Amino acid sequence: MALKIIKKESVVLDERLSHIAFIMDGNGRWATSRGLPREQGHRAGAKAFQRIATHCEELGLRAMTVYAFSTENWKRPAREVEAIMDLLEDYIDSCEKELKKHSVRFRFIGDRTPLRPVLRQKMDRLEAITKDNRMILNIAVNYGARSELCRAMQTVADGGLPISEDSISGALYTAECGDPDMIVRTGGDMRISNFLLWQAAYAELYFTDKLWPDFSPADVDEAIRVFYSRQRRYGGVSNV
Ligand code: FPP
Repeated sequence: MALKIIKKESVVLDERLSHIAFIMDGNGRWATSRGLPREQGHRAGAKAFQRIATHCEELGLRAMTVYAFSTENWKRPAREVEAIMDLLEDYIDSCEKELKKHSVRFRFIGDRTPLRPVLRQKMDRLEAITKDNRMILNIAVNYGARSELCRAMQTVADGGLPISEDSISGALYTAECGDPDMIVRTGGDMRISNFLLWQAAYAELYFTDKLWPDFSPADVDEAIRVFYSRQRRYGGVSNV
């Protein structure tokens, strides 16, 4: 008997969806459930991130934002923090080597002050050499939304501008790419965890139990299908 392979239609994006943000949760549980140290979970998480970023670029997304390290993640054991910083450095090195393969414009969002000087230099350099590329990829490192908001309000005040929704939005790290249309969180928890609090005002929220290292391009497509099945009313009423 011939085997019939049913392939799901791949998703096609339209103007309703240009920016997806991801809370990449579940690396630690992925590792401990396999008897591995948590650092191995982050290593697998970094690989998953690269698969998802490539997929989003291929789909033609305009912007993608990922939560790689929060202002609260310093509370973790030093070994785990170092492992995440090492992964970021390795990733930046590999991106520099493969620049021609991608058209990603890298942006590192968050307060870089406490990061290793060599990591900061690599971030600056990757941002500079990719500044004319198409898809914005914001990687949040030492990022916290409350701290971002304080910084934005200070910038507005220092510039002598009136406090308004536009002036604050314009002073956020995401000023250029705008708010995410959808925020995806893996790992089963249903919270925002100090991520893009201002920008999330009208984002569609998508939660999945899948742990981040298991999250695949097909799972992104499924989240996008759910996004398109929802009706966004922005506080108004539907047209039907
Ligand atoms: C949350 O899972 C994940 C993090 C705090 C780190 C995310 C980092 C990466 C995916 C690697 C970053 C690297 C690049 C190249 C972007 P968790 O550790 O809180 O998982 P748990 O809830 O199962 O403990």
